Amino acid sequence: MTIAKHIFFTSICFFVFNSCASESNEQSVDDRLNSLLSKMTLEEKIGQMNQYSSFWDVTGPAPKEGSTAKQFEQLKNGLVGSMLNVHGVENVRKLQQIAVEETRLGIPLIFGFDVIHGFKTISPIPLAEAASWDLEAIELSAKNAALEASAAGINWTFAPMVDISRDARWGRVMEGAGEDPYLGSKIAHARVKGFQGDDLSAPTTIAACAKHFAGYGFPEAGKEYNTVDIGAQTLHNMVMPPFKATIDAGVRTFMNSFSQLNGVPATGSKYLQRTLLKEKWNFDGFVVSDWSSIEEMVEHGYAENVKHAAHIAVEAGSDMDMQSFAYVEHLADLVRSDIVDEQLIEDAARRILRVKFELGLFDDPYKYCNIEREKATIGHEKFQEATLEMAKKSIVLLKNQNQLLPLKKKGLDIALIGDLADDKTSPLGNWILAAENNSAVSVLEGMKAYEGNNIEFSVGAKLNIGPLEFAKELKINTTDKSDFAAALKTAKTADVVVMVLGEHGFQSGEGRSRTNIGLPGLQQELLEAVYKVNKNIVLVLNNGRPLALNWAHKHIPAIVEAWQLGSQSGNAIAQVLYGDYNPSGKLPMTFPKSVGQVPIYYNFKTSGRPNLPSPDEVFWTHYQDETNAPLYPFGYGLSYTTFEYSDLEIISQSGTTIELSVAVTNSGKFPGKEVVQLYVQDHFAQPAQPVKSLKRFELIDLKPNQTKTVRFTLTEDALGFYDDDGNFTVQPGEFSIYVGGDSTANLTTKFNL
Ligand code: NOJ
Repeated sequence: MTIAKHIFFTSICFFVFNSCASESNEQSVDDRLNSLLSKMTLEEKIGQMNQYSSFWDVTGPAPKEGSTAKQFEQLKNGLVGSMLNVHGVENVRKLQQIAVEETRLGIPLIFGFDVIHGFKTISPIPLAEAASWDLEAIELSAKNAALEASAAGINWTFAPMVDISRDARWGRVMEGAGEDPYLGSKIAHARVKGFQGDDLSAPTTIAACAKHFAGYGFPEAGKEYNTVDIGAQTLHNMVMPPFKATIDAGVRTFMNSFSQLNGVPATGSKYLQRTLLKEKWNFDGFVVSDWSSIEEMVEHGYAENVKHAAHIAVEAGSDMDMQSFAYVEHLADLVRSDIVDEQLIEDAARRILRVKFELGLFDDPYKYCNIEREKATIGHEKFQEATLEMAKKSIVLLKNQNQLLPLKKKGLDIALIGDLADDKTSPLGNWILAAENNSAVSVLEGMKAYEGNNIEFSVGAKLNIGPLEFAKELKINTTDKSDFAAALKTAKTADVVVMVLGEHGFQSGEGRSRTNIGLPGLQQELLEAVYKVNKNIVLVLNNGRPLALNWAHKHIPAIVEAWQLGSQSGNAIAQVLYGDYNPSGKLPMTFPKSVGQVPIYYNFKTSGRPNLPSPDEVFWTHYQDETNAPLYPFGYGLSYTTFEYSDLEIISQSGTTIELSVAVTNSGKFPGKEVVQLYVQDHFAQPAQPVKSLKRFELIDLKPNQTKTVRFTLTEDALGFYDDDGNFTVQPGEFSIYVGGDSTANLTTKFNL
């Protein structure tokens, strides 16, 4: 980095954290809003509600014909309020100039982008970050993403996705925080804080967007965009808490969902967007539709035509139309024919303009368009350092028989096998719109950085054999075994075999559901073939969802869950394999033994027949061909050291405030981190509650032989639940507490309320 770059970067950080917070507005935002709205025509207000994806190359000539020419005219006439998928200071500035200098009122655009896990520098996929249970690190990751994206002209991210999901078949689990509403809420809060900071008007913070409101994570059969049919208990106790947490963190925008919820497309749901979000939760930001989800209400069989869809969506409280062309084409007509109340348009435009005011766009529309800052910020090494730390924290050690790991740093012949071991794009995962392909550190590179061992790489079996495009299916190799022989030869004589297997980064994410969640392509066959010649295998998994890995778990001595870890993936994995970092991640989602168990999750409700009554009897809740237990439970993850839990005690109870303590000892040989987890069981309630629910956790550091006493305070929020109307209630009765290192924790105590 040049000295100039360093000075600029340091000073912009100083500026951001010290002086921006005090930017003053003489007039209140409300006064400025009123004054602006009073000057706007109906069409201009509707224009604010219209969002387009980048429709031409702004560095080329303006579009002259077809639909892009029409969009261009609308832009110049003040009929576009926001653009998405435009980035880079030069591009953003050019579009902003049109909005500010060529339209009647000069209202600036807001620029949205899917900054999901980093911008140019890529962090671990969100599901992986969730496995760290490290809220500070997760907040920092979002903050860095905002710093980098805002330097490229972006002022609004379509993140965090806070959809709870229990279905590993659904490819979008990679973008969330897993299955648990408590962990999900904490992470949702941290991510919003990271993106938005304490001052939205600072040039380095961006507006966040809680999505997809609501229920998108529960598609039937795990199939993308599929219908969602869930009861009030699941809706209020599982789906809603993370959304509410984003409100508490001050999130400024929401995105609705593609899917139907109990027969009503979320985009057309008045209950979700008005009753719950805007009235009950007092949300005064705005709701953006998902991509063409207004128009899709016609396909859903809910609206007669696009005009009808626009009518339903605006009444339901969908403020901005992403790419349906429905509002700009039809709302004025609907108002003029007295079908839609003009007040609804006024309200939506006010909400959108409010966020623009808060971002400081009216004070300086080019606030995010500083070319010097862009040059000094994008790809800064500080982001690489931070993403490496985040990546290490996200790794989960699933199995380590006979302490095969960590590996010795000297004198080993290591066979490194697997197409993914040498891949520099797949580890970036999905949602990498601004990142460079081929820019991640591969496992091969990460391991070669340790020079004491001899590493022989062999591909074993190609994984993806087609082109790599965001919107296209991959072509997975299921036939070509021509690379098997070389891999087996290398494996046979090696001291240890490291196999990097799993999913390509583009096998999870939007539109990427799977019914078979084992190792795709020829990888299972390759693993079994290598095992026949050398059993000393460390399996490093790359994947964006829980996988069903029964065979691997039974046979392979060491398994490391490395997800898709982003730009620094290979370095993070190597540091864990060699013991320079002791893994501490814990699974944010249950891993099944078989896809037939899905949805499988730890906080289930029991049945009337949960236990085997007598040997071989069939009349209880079970499968004939598989146990009820998962392969790896929620909250699970090993370390190179071991932890022991003891002395769980209730220290005091006063009404619904209960203080507890537990002693945790590092009983192994390495310093390590442990996520101490506390689960609550409400033994009987109406409606019945889950067998246990995570209610508190703490990440602690322990040296060998060190013991720490961890204290938890339980308050009402940990002891109650939402009723079917979404009101929180605590019912008296008997409660159990379980404390330990995963959701099977069995150190327990009881109390009554
Ligand atoms: C569709 C996705 O569902 C949503 O999450 C994303 O933000 C938008 N496309 C914009 O890219």
